Amino acid sequence: MLTAEAVEHYRQSGYHFPLSVLSAAETALCRARLEAQEVKLGGALSGALRQKPHLLFPWLNGLIRHPSILDAVEALLGPDLLCWSSSFFIKEPQAPGYVSWHQDATYWGLSSPDVLTVWLALTPANEVNGCMKFAPGTHNAPVGHHDTFDKDNLLTRGQEITVAVDEAQTVAVNLQPGEASLHHVLLHHGSAPNRSADRRIGYAIRYIPAYVRQIAGATDSATLVRGRDAFGHFEHEAAPDADLSEAAVAQHAAVTQRQAAVLYRGTGKTTFRA
Ligand code: NI
Repeated sequence: MLTAEAVEHYRQSGYHFPLSVLSAAETALCRARLEAQEVKLGGALSGALRQKPHLLFPWLNGLIRHPSILDAVEALLGPDLLCWSSSFFIKEPQAPGYVSWHQDATYWGLSSPDVLTVWLALTPANEVNGCMKFAPGTHNAPVGHHDTFDKDNLLTRGQEITVAVDEAQTVAVNLQPGEASLHHVLLHHGSAPNRSADRRIGYAIRYIPAYVRQIAGATDSATLVRGRDAFGHFEHEAAPDADLSEAAVAQHAAVTQRQAAVLYRGTGKTTFRA
C-alpha cells in the first residue's frame, strides 16, 4: 500500500513515483519477452497491437494484476478495480517520437476523473531518453486541446493542451527499470524524444474503479483485476489462454476496434495509426 504521505502527495500534486514493482531480473525478462515477440512479428508492435496487449499475451495479463501495482492503485481508487486499457510507449534510440503536453482524459469518454495511469519502466527512463515530465497540481480541471496529428507524436491524435506550460515548474519522472509512476487522468504531462543509444520502453496501464462508466456512446469493455464489479458498466474481458491464440486475437480485434471508435470519434479515422 502507499503511505499516507504518498496518498496525500497524489491528491495535492496529481502523481506519485517511484513505485517499486519488478526486480531487475523480472524487468529484464519482460523486455526479453517483448523483444522476442517483436522478432517473431518482424518489427515493433504496430497499430492496434500496441493497444491492450494484455488481451494478447498472458505475461502482460499477469503484469496488470501485479499485487504491488494493485495495492498502490487501491489506495487511490478503492478496492473494486478494472483495467480499462494498456499500451506500450516505446522510443527507439535517436528517434524523433515525442509526446505533446496533454491530459489523458480528453478523448477517453469516461464519466469520472477517478482514473489513473501506472507507467512501468522496462528500461531506465531519464531526461536523456525522453522520460515523462509532469506539471504538478494541474489535475483539478480539464483544459482545451488542439489535435495536431503530427507524425512524430506518439498520441492518437497528436493532441496538445492549449494552455502554456511553465517548464521551470515541471518534474522529470526519472525511473529505474522495474519502477513505475502513477498519474491522474487530468495531470498535464508530456515527453521529449529519445537522445540515447538504447530503447526507452514503458508500459502504461490505465485503471478505473468499477463505478466509472463509458459515456462516449459506445459499448466498452475492461478487465476486472481486483474486488468485484457491482455496476456492470463494462463488458468483462477474458484473459488470453496463450500468446496470440485464435480466441485472444479475436477478442482483442473486437475490443480495440471499439476502442478506436471512441478515441478517434469525430475525426473520420477508424483504426489506430501504424
Ligand atoms: Ni498521457
